[in-house]
Amino acid sequence: MSVPQYDFKQHQLYKTPEPPFLTGRVDQYQERVARNGSHILKGRRPGDHAVLLVSNDYLALAGHPTIIDAQVEALQTYGHGLLRSDVYRAGAGPLRQFELNLAQLMEAEDTVLCQSGWCANVGLIQSIADANTPVYLDMHAHASLWEGARSAGATPRPFRHNSAQSLERLIQRHGPGVVAVETVYSTSGSMCPLDEIVELAERYGCIMVVDESHSLGLFGEQGEGLTASWGLAGRVHFRTSSLSKAFAARGGIVAGRARNIEFFRYESKTAVFSSGILPHEAVGFQATLVVIAAENWRREQLHHNADILRNALNALDYNVDASQSQIISLVAGPESRTIILRDALESRGVFGSVFCWPATATSRSLVRFSVNCALSEEQLDRIVSVCAEIRDEIGLYNWSSTQRRVLHPLDNGVADQQLNIDGVGGRFQLPDDLVDP
Ligand SMILES: Cc1ncc(COP(=O)(O)O)c(C=O)c1O
Repeated sequence: MSVPQYDFKQHQLYKTPEPPFLTGRVDQYQERVARNGSHILKGRRPGDHAVLLVSNDYLALAGHPTIIDAQVEALQTYGHGLLRSDVYRAGAGPLRQFELNLAQLMEAEDTVLCQSGWCANVGLIQSIADANTPVYLDMHAHASLWEGARSAGATPRPFRHNSAQSLERLIQRHGPGVVAVETVYSTSGSMCPLDEIVELAERYGCIMVVDESHSLGLFGEQGEGLTASWGLAGRVHFRTSSLSKAFAARGGIVAGRARNIEFFRYESKTAVFSSGILPHEAVGFQATLVVIAAENWRREQLHHNADILRNALNALDYNVDASQSQIISLVAGPESRTIILRDALESRGVFGSVFCWPATATSRSLVRFSVNCALSEEQLDRIVSVCAEIRDEIGLYNWSSTQRRVLHPLDNGVADQQLNIDGVGGRFQLPDDLVDP
């Protein structure tokens, strides 16, 4: 049976004029695309031999035969299950089995499955904060954590990236609240000084929310994540994670004390008002968890590959100093420069992910390399030789990120603070202690 075809343009489907609050926004977007001469997010299609650094499947599990077989069998057994909100889920089944096993892995009392990492963060902050709760967010924190604060009607209070001092000044001014950070930050690959932040949160009576999206499955003997492997599991109230990174599928989780997880399950809006994960997805997660826990070699190879690439890019004068993980970003700056970088890489068969407004400030767009454990030595060599070859073409020595590193290495951290101010955090008044003199 064929899908019906209808020529919408010819029949002028939308005849009613649109109000300026919509047309103005869309016009702005179109002007931005026109100014750049090319859509920053629409690059080339990768050919068969391209090296792909675009996926968050860090452990190369997306096509793992054991996981796929488990999912196929579950689909045949359960179909799509009962399509409804998870608040009506009763008794033990594949979803609950995964939640309990993941709790064991993460050293948490319990976990709850969510539809995505976005839903986990928005639902969590929305359900634990209100208009009177300050929500302290690292300036580089993921947009979903900011959105949770907005959804709670709370005032987001951004603090300098990875700065316990900046956080402390804010808490002293606004009182106890929710502190939200990531273990590994998704734009730069930097790591949170979690012990210092947790210590502060305890001293001032704050609740800690730690997003482990880019560390769960990737750090620790069995992939328990950074919070647990740093010995901080019992001192962090809530951990969240997307399952679309190391777990290589679509979903999210919240982990913590059992009574708090039960509260989230039955009261957060994302859990109550949206249908849950399907049975075969949960079975896939369970099979993935078994592989993740058993195959430490994947983590070792991942970090080995990331170290090789980071060191080589450093030696080529790329400013990748912020990266301490498998995420390595080339910060070209203005969008026009990032487009030149993207094209230089893609025309030579190397594909990274472009990050631009609203994920970064407009002046700090970048190409992110997500390293994975399946990259061969030859592929790593190819990435490095392409990055060496394009330096003049992309004007590497004119990038402010390069100049910061080569000419003013001591300013590196300060300049880095600009990243998400007008991006995910946009339209918020910066507190005085964040404004550089
Ligand atoms: C740190 C972080 N948190 C949350 C999310 C949202 O996860 P998901 O894609 O599962 O909604 C992402 C995804 O980009 C992320 O990087």
